[in-house]
Amino acid sequence: MVVDNKATITYVQLLKEDLVIIRLVPKDSPVPDYQPGQFITLGLPNPLEGGKIVRRAYSIASHPENRKYVELVIRWVRKPLPGRLTTQLFNAKEGDEILWLKPTGRALLINETLPNGEKDNRRIICIGGGTGLAPFVSFAQHLHDTGDKREIVILQGASYVDELSYKELLTELENDSIARGKNQWNFKYRAAISRPQEWFNRSWAGQVGRVETFLRPRDNGISPLEELIGDEITKENTIFYVCGWQGTIDGVMDFLKPKGFVTEHDKRADGSFEVKYESYG
Ligand SMILES: Cc1cc2nc3c(=O)[nH]c(=O)nc-3n(C[C@H](O)[C@H](O)[C@H](O)COP(=O)(O)OP(=O)(O)OC[C@H]3O[C@@H](n4cnc5c(N)ncnc54)[C@H](O)[C@@H]3O)c2cc1C
Ligand SMILES: NC(=O)c1ccc[n+]([C@@H]2O[C@H](COP(=O)([O-])OP(=O)(O)OC[C@H]3O[C@@H](n4cnc5c(N)ncnc54)[C@H](OP(=O)(O)O)[C@@H]3O)[C@@H](O)[C@H]2O)c1
Repeated sequence: MVVDNKATITYVQLLKEDLVIIRLVPKDSPVPDYQPGQFITLGLPNPLEGGKIVRRAYSIASHPENRKYVELVIRWVRKPLPGRLTTQLFNAKEGDEILWLKPTGRALLINETLPNGEKDNRRIICIGGGTGLAPFVSFAQHLHDTGDKREIVILQGASYVDELSYKELLTELENDSIARGKNQWNFKYRAAISRPQEWFNRSWAGQVGRVETFLRPRDNGISPLEELIGDEITKENTIFYVCGWQGTIDGVMDFLKPKGFVTEHDKRADGSFEVKYESYG
């Protein structure tokens, strides 16, 4: 039988009508141990279902070194019908109780060793569509706080500029990289806005289109991502982590497969791979 733990919702930041950042603090135990890239399962009894507990997975955006709270970024699912848990979550207030199951998930754990046992020092490229950014916010804070020296790039895709949920935090991390030097902390963050023609997005001057367009070569054969990092991306020098809609994963693989990249799911006989992913749904 599943035994739910209890937590208090201590912070609610509504970014827009259907996008929220919430923080939880466990009631009878410390903040649970977890690894960057894992998800936590939240639950609430649903009055419309006779009090049955509806549980759903949410990627953790905070990092394991933060022992104060667990942070999540959640979309209110409204179509075709209001989502059962998210509708309740969007009615929750600071101080309310919520149920949780311990963090788990292996799909997006940071790869530390190569099949031959050597340290994995490949460049890390994270591609997050919408709230699929969450695991990479955890990656970035963790790798920063643990003094990791690998090159890290985070690319976020969103329909609207006000959905760039962690722009400030990630820009600060990039500024720290510039201030301290790449040999100390090598980090870049960029976003793509997929509905640039809409009036609300008129101030956007960055990449346009869905996030996977960062990988599309321009006429000179070099992609915007390669321009950003100043190097050719090969399966020997880069590992990708992707989280979002299945269409985002497929779009990324359309560019990477011709370069010989394979996913962990389809890893080679020797155990090697260059892409890890978690898709919505
Ligand atoms: C590993 C993992 C990590 C995740 N991380 C995040 C995260 O960080 N942030 C985030 O926002 N989400 C995340 N999710 C998604 C989350 O788990 C839920 O699926 C999401 O919040 C919707 O839950 P819900 O109960 O509100 O919707 P549900 O009630 O489960 O509805 C799901 C869909 O079905 C439709 N639907 C419901 N009932 C019917 C019906 N009778 N007929 C037709 N359609 C119907 C709804 O409209 C909706 O589109 C993650 C999922 C996974 C698997
Ligand atoms: N790990 C997970 O399983 C996980 C994590 C987070 C969220 N989710 C769930 O995913 C759902 C929506 O997430 P969201 O609101 O964060 O995303 P979103 O804001 O709707 O979309 C984010 C970006 O993905 C693009 N996109 C939409 N549909 C796509 C498709 N089929 N293929 C490729 N790109 C697509 C959007 O482009 P356009 O502007 O062109 O639409 C936008 O640029 C929610 O139900 C959420 O609960 C799951």
